[in-house]
Amino acid sequence: MTSFDVDAIDLATLRERQSVKYRAYGPDVIPAWIAEMDFPLAEPIARSLRDAIDRSDTGYQSGAGLREAFRDFAARTWAWDVPVSRVTGVPDVLSGVNWAICLLTEPGDGIIINSPVYPPFFTTIRDIAERTIVDVPMARTPEGGYTLDLPALEAAFARPEVTALLLCSPHNPTGTVPGRSELERIAELADRHGVAVISDEIHAPLTMPSAQHTPYLAVAGDDANALALVAASKAWNLAGLKCAQMVATERTAPVMRDRLPKEVVYGTGHLGVLATVAAYAEGGPWLEQVIGILDGNRRLVADLVAEHAPRVGYVMPDASYLAWLDLSAYSPGDDPSVVLLEKAHVAVNAGPTFGQGGTGHVRLNMATSPAILTTIVHRMGDALGAR
Ligand SMILES: Cc1ncc(COP(=O)(O)O)c(C=O)c1O
Repeated sequence: MTSFDVDAIDLATLRERQSVKYRAYGPDVIPAWIAEMDFPLAEPIARSLRDAIDRSDTGYQSGAGLREAFRDFAARTWAWDVPVSRVTGVPDVLSGVNWAICLLTEPGDGIIINSPVYPPFFTTIRDIAERTIVDVPMARTPEGGYTLDLPALEAAFARPEVTALLLCSPHNPTGTVPGRSELERIAELADRHGVAVISDEIHAPLTMPSAQHTPYLAVAGDDANALALVAASKAWNLAGLKCAQMVATERTAPVMRDRLPKEVVYGTGHLGVLATVAAYAEGGPWLEQVIGILDGNRRLVADLVAEHAPRVGYVMPDASYLAWLDLSAYSPGDDPSVVLLEKAHVAVNAGPTFGQGGTGHVRLNMATSPAILTTIVHRMGDALGAR
């Protein structure tokens, strides 16, 4: 297995990157905001991209092997049996979510989300798809974590204007991984109330060893009025290459096939398809190493917070690399990201943009080296006056 040296990652080299994480702020700021990772690209992906460049192979995508690669990855990873006819490429998860909303609901319909949640959900539902947001906030666990509020979801499903749930599973920013029994309950309620489910599972390949991701469609079954959006883009850091997958059930497959415009599918990036196939087929050892690093990093943040900013609220995520931090005990204002940028020179995502429950919070990207993460938390502790 080829592995990389996480301790060799340095900010000077990272700052040579042209992607938005490293271009949005000045050289004195450590960027720990948007969900990009600081790790070197997996070698099988780099090789596939280099080979394509060497062939001058930069035309439109043909879908070559994408559906088969996802089918095999889903079978190996989640024991999820997905016929290839139910998978299509789409440019990215967010546009896939938007199209899924368009395919399964009507303008003005109510769509449930579970705040605090990935901020573009609000704009996609309201401003792009012109549907209405019905917020069913996540419930809190006795340990301070988050969980889907099933009784509140049941009540919302019964509302006449509600026609869909936009599930974020695993959940961004809390890192909650809904369990099989919760998903079974949601599927049962959705079926009873005629509510469609759109499941954004972009973070699923990054589920930590402490949890088990369950694909919603695997639970809901062939007859479910549901679509899922999946991608290799978060787990292997390929967001700029523009390739995600929409997955249908037997019931929604004709809708996806006949009503998803071909132009959307053509818009999937060719290099993205090649990279995604390499990721699903050969990216396993790299992903295993990354999950090990992220598992260590989420624990490191717990230790660092306990030592340097003990009144910060933090429950380790069960998936992905985003730490949802409650800084309100240090009174840094409604949006603590402002203070952290000014005083700590650390860029994190602003909690209030995640909707209800975001006040006093920030989202910290932990996909970096332990040394950089340590510097970040030290600086945060100083800026909060906690150290
Ligand atoms: C839950 C969730 N959905 C969608 C996206 C965006 O994915 P894409 O770049 O494929 O649109 C992200 C990005 O972090 C995300 O966290």
